[in-house]
Amino acid sequence: MGVEAGLQKASAPAKCILFGEHAVVYGEPAVAVALEQRLHVQLRPSKTWSVGGSQLQAKRHPHIAALKAALLEDSTPPMSIQINSDIPRASGLGSSAALSTAVARAFATLSHQETVTNEALSMLAHQAEAQAQGGLASPLDTSTSTEGGVVVLSDTKENSCTWLYTRRLATPSGERVWEVHSLDLKRDDGIYLVLGNTGVHAPTSAQVALVAAALEESPERMQEIKAIGTVSRRGLDALQRGDYTAVGHAMSENHVLLRNLGVSSLELEDLIRAALPTSLGVKLTGAGGGGCMVALTRHPKETAEAIELAGGRTFVSRIGNAGAHAD
Ligand code: PMV
Repeated sequence: MGVEAGLQKASAPAKCILFGEHAVVYGEPAVAVALEQRLHVQLRPSKTWSVGGSQLQAKRHPHIAALKAALLEDSTPPMSIQINSDIPRASGLGSSAALSTAVARAFATLSHQETVTNEALSMLAHQAEAQAQGGLASPLDTSTSTEGGVVVLSDTKENSCTWLYTRRLATPSGERVWEVHSLDLKRDDGIYLVLGNTGVHAPTSAQVALVAAALEESPERMQEIKAIGTVSRRGLDALQRGDYTAVGHAMSENHVLLRNLGVSSLELEDLIRAALPTSLGVKLTGAGGGGCMVALTRHPKETAEAIELAGGRTFVSRIGNAGAHAD
């Protein structure tokens, strides 16, 4: 509870995928980390329900409306919701998942369900995401934003990780099941991630469809998907050992495989080339085609400057930050 009567605050982090995007659609493991950049929500008692000064409407605010229906009684007194975020939107960094998880946490506090588990909250946030996207959404963003740290998603239980829960989602093409894990990170205070945003928006669904079409045309290319899975597991192992040179190698190797799959772009390649000389490893992150790249580096200032010179907007984060919490 804040100082002001009735004020509720919560926040949730952005995420970036270190390994396994696209391959995770075909069951291989993907590894995401919570970033320092966060989205903050504030709830204040008000005469009507509103978001950023406009009336709360399911069409305009599908995530918030779905979470309100799931977590609050109809009789809950109305609140005005303010959102402040340092997460760029629609660039593969999980801004909508951060909104869902922060709002879920704030609504849970509002309805005196403070003890509701991360598993339950991330499930509600995942369902809100899936509903807003009209069907399928992987739980990688919502689980990473809820749990914080490092989250590993796979179709099977990964022995090297700490298994958290099984996540199921009814989709238009049947039920999907994911195993969600956390990873104990061996910290190194000299290690940073530098994110570079191309400013180009490429919808995730189009990028996923592009890979599906390539695999349909040449089924033998499933080997490339399997190769990404192998690199992901190698990256996971290196993260656990704290061998950041090996983590960087695995990231760059993962990028080559993604580029060959056809999901990079000229803009991403420009930023990646600029970051390479000062980095341990560089790759696109998320769906590709635009959006962001990520560099693992011991020289964040130099790496960020090189990316900016090549036309990217940057921000710096350490690996693995706090998940969603009441503020
Ligand atoms: O760019 P993002 O954060 O939407 O990541 C997409 C990751 C994919 O593997 C390409 C799709 C998915 O659902 O996992």
